[in-house]
Amino acid sequence: MIYQGRTLRLDVDADGVAEICFCSTLAPINKFDAVTLGELREAVDALRATAGVRALVLTSALDAFVVGADIKRFSTVFSQPAAVMEEGMWRTHRLFADIEDLPYPTVAAIGGLALGGGLEICLACDYRVMADDTRIGLPEIGLGIFPGWGGSMRLPRLVGVEEAAAWIADGRPRDAAAALQANAVDRVAPAARLTACARELVLDPDSVTGLDARRAARIEAPLPDANERKAVFDALRSRYAAKLDPHYPALSTVLDAMESHTGLVREEAMAVEIAAFVEVARTPTTASLVGLFLNEQYLKKQLRRYTADASAVKNVGVIGSGIMGAGIALQCALAGIDVRLHDMSRAALDRAFAGIDAYLGERVNKGRLTQDRADGARALVHAESDIAALDECELVVEAVVEDRDVKREVLSKLAARLSPEALIATNTSTIAIDSLAGSITGRGRFLGLHFFNPVTAMPLVEVIRGAETVDDAVARAVAFARAIGKHPVVVRDCPGFLVNRVLFPYLNGFERLLHDGVDFVRIDRVMESFGWPMGPARLLDVVGIDTTVNAARIMAESFPERMALDFVTSRERLRDAGRLGEKSGAGYYDYEPGTNRRREPATAKGAHFIIAAGEPNEIDDGDIVARMMVPLCIELVRCLEEEVVDSPEAADMALIRGLGFPRYLGGALRYVDRLGAAAFCETAARFAHLGAAYRPTPGLEAMAAQGRRFFGQGSPT
Ligand code: NAI
Repeated sequence: MIYQGRTLRLDVDADGVAEICFCSTLAPINKFDAVTLGELREAVDALRATAGVRALVLTSALDAFVVGADIKRFSTVFSQPAAVMEEGMWRTHRLFADIEDLPYPTVAAIGGLALGGGLEICLACDYRVMADDTRIGLPEIGLGIFPGWGGSMRLPRLVGVEEAAAWIADGRPRDAAAALQANAVDRVAPAARLTACARELVLDPDSVTGLDARRAARIEAPLPDANERKAVFDALRSRYAAKLDPHYPALSTVLDAMESHTGLVREEAMAVEIAAFVEVARTPTTASLVGLFLNEQYLKKQLRRYTADASAVKNVGVIGSGIMGAGIALQCALAGIDVRLHDMSRAALDRAFAGIDAYLGERVNKGRLTQDRADGARALVHAESDIAALDECELVVEAVVEDRDVKREVLSKLAARLSPEALIATNTSTIAIDSLAGSITGRGRFLGLHFFNPVTAMPLVEVIRGAETVDDAVARAVAFARAIGKHPVVVRDCPGFLVNRVLFPYLNGFERLLHDGVDFVRIDRVMESFGWPMGPARLLDVVGIDTTVNAARIMAESFPERMALDFVTSRERLRDAGRLGEKSGAGYYDYEPGTNRRREPATAKGAHFIIAAGEPNEIDDGDIVARMMVPLCIELVRCLEEEVVDSPEAADMALIRGLGFPRYLGGALRYVDRLGAAAFCETAARFAHLGAAYRPTPGLEAMAAQGRRFFGQGSPT
């Protein structure tokens, strides 16, 4: 043994083949944290001082090869002064370059996931052999950065600029076949033969012969001609135009850097890559996206704890086969769970199955689902006109119309039929579930499971704990939501729960703007360029104007001080005019018949006429954003203070997954952190005349006074 650390070891065998094996004893996976990089430096120095070595193989003794850098440390590292950060980047670059310059063939034997830095070190080797059951990739873009340890520089030299740009821009890991086809790896081997295959490759005399040419290609500039480079990169910029969003600067920065450094030799190219990396790593977007990644990890761990002892639900019943009931049934079936769908209307059941067939057919046509899987899912959904067919189910989700009396009747009937252990859930979107629980026997097993529309596409499910819901019921419901591929967030019961409760102050902010004479088309444009996937008017058209009016009424009755408006709203006018949104062909916008294609705003005259807003008012874009965002953020803070949601992490993720809140802001609470609670409260004070929804909570005012934040410097609280 030449070197033995806590995360890796170096050995040289009798044939002169050296092996650096990543075998962390500090964590269940290998990652490039400070300890590993320090030990790698020592091992490489020891190797360079060792005589008689003929080749180097990099291996891993753990399931993953190396999963990348230590993301938990990113916020600390990225908030250092730029010069200090650059110095750190240079250290790793020199380390990888020292491996690249070893005077004998080097090979990475990639037996498990090699991601980010884990792949970048492999790119510094002469050869790569990959196990046939693993994947490699450069997922950095999802964190608002790009491969900055030589990846943006070495990958184009290896696989060509277009292919490298695709790997970096989509961040998706590639399987062995795709990696081989792209020329990112030299060979693919069965896992059991991986190291042997890598050794054969570097001991093959041809590997030594071909070495100089391979190395020259990595050192020299791949595209020395500036005109050619410009043409190549202009084409790439138009290919990725949709992704070149100014809120997410990483892709445009890396394309600029690549255009520059593909014209340079290695040492100069490194300097360009490092400078560009340091620039994007220090943007607020990166801080937000890294924060979101850490939120996800934190919540995953928390949910695992929640569900550790929960028994799995194997058969589900759904009552009400409308938009939501049909979607919930389909989602269960896609996850392999047997589901009985009941509706009092035979026509509604027929419509639901026609919808399910259409969805499955389309997925098969698009190649997203095999015919076998589609058939399997279809066979798991059973249409039941008789409610008795649901008697044996372990969980029944009620998804009938949003009417308190109808729901109470259905739920109490159901409770009397089911076994006492069966879970009973309601998919109400606004009604506090405790107000529905009255007539249910065994209320400990009653809770809310609030899915979002369309169920198959929306990742969030709110699991609503009522006053009497027992822990085991919550745990089983959370486990069920996870089993059908959703991200559950556990919330305490209140009208609107978490997501709709914060959505309505935002939508009322929209109504107030219209009331003050601002055009809805402009508001949509402003909010979309701020980063929402769709503006409020478009969102209301998708959700349905009548549905929104009903929900708004319930919210206004529940929180009159903050959510009741003292004027007739645009949504009420549209509802009265029969413009119910996309589903009726017209709402705020007009739609091409039978599609969700918006006609150009000029034809939205109908809505403009009906809305009859007040006198046009001079309100600038920044104030439009503030008047929409401030009440949303304040209501979310209130939910956190009232423990409707139990952590800032869960609160922010719920809005991102349930509402499409702009990811680059990292969530609403992180947005308040980014602005600073004091500055946020000052903005809110400017709009105090708009009512209680714009008044910060005393807790938020205290945070402002004391300079506190919801999140520590980037890490979960
Ligand atoms: P929908 O109107 O499309 O479907 C309701 C179905 O329930 C109808 O097929 C009706 O025949 C059936 N039904 C009514 N009374 C029944 C009874 N006593 N027994 C059996 N079936 C009965 O409604 P949608 O949109 O699917 O909503 C269902 C629930 O989901 C509501 O509580 C709604 O608030 C909630 N929700 C709706 C969302 C949406 O975007 N549409 C989003 C999230 C939740």
